[in-house]
Amino acid sequence: MARIMAGMGTSHVPGAGAAMDNGKTGEPYWEPLFTGLEPLRKWHSQNVPDVNIIVFNDHATSFSLDNYSTFTIGVAEEFQPADEGWGPRKVPVVEGHPELAWHLVEELIFEEFDMAVAGSLDVDHGLTVPLSIAYDQPEKWPTKVIPLCVNVIQYPQPTPLRCFKLGQAIRRAVDSFDKDLSVGIWGTGGLSHQLGGERAGVVNPKFDNTFLDNMTKDPMANTRISHTDFIREAGSEGIEMIMWNVMRGALNETVKEVYRFYHIPVSATAYGGLILENE
Ligand code: DHB
Ligand code: FE
Repeated sequence: MARIMAGMGTSHVPGAGAAMDNGKTGEPYWEPLFTGLEPLRKWHSQNVPDVNIIVFNDHATSFSLDNYSTFTIGVAEEFQPADEGWGPRKVPVVEGHPELAWHLVEELIFEEFDMAVAGSLDVDHGLTVPLSIAYDQPEKWPTKVIPLCVNVIQYPQPTPLRCFKLGQAIRRAVDSFDKDLSVGIWGTGGLSHQLGGERAGVVNPKFDNTFLDNMTKDPMANTRISHTDFIREAGSEGIEMIMWNVMRGALNETVKEVYRFYHIPVSATAYGGLILENE
């Protein structure tokens, strides 16, 4: 009786969060990004689910490199914003949905996904920037959130296919939850970027747009990109795009692209935003 209604993919560029927090969205650098986000925000204002499952990555904010899990679900009542760099954003606390989160933990583990469980988890720009991209600056976030954290920081990272299959298992788990709930699923991160090293600044619009096209046209093609391909084509942090595969796996085989927005530059990356509805 719980149902996944739609999915969103979005980059989580921390600078975009800082632009909102510091009232700079109208500045010439940021204005094209926030103008392009207007239709996405309009869609969100008209399609508010009870819960959003937000697939994101921690940037060594809450997880130390001494202790890293491939997939982690947050089961807490609430999650505090935290961050490196600019520090914790002054955004509302993120309310969880422990009942659905524990149901996901149980079903996913029975489906042989060995999920780690976080009873306490501070959430960084990987999760709070997508919330601000969707909902702007409310007093309180309009939905509950289940944080699902994917390791893209510490090698070895999960495969793009494993991420897609996790999404499929999430879909089955949501479908078997015995309460009327509307659920959204977000894949975050990316698109192509590399923050350090000799190739810092890599951005690859052709790779990004093919990935976005394949979200509707051929989602399995996005599961066949190797880690090496990601690094070569999309830069070392382009690997964040595998989190979009979790979102895509949780949707129907056929989906409708209701909005797409792609913009360069946004800090060191290409911003990509996509809304997909189940057909
Ligand atoms: C940037 C992008 C990221 O995904 C991130 O986690 C940090 C910084 C950037 O482009 O500035
Ligand atoms: Fe990131």
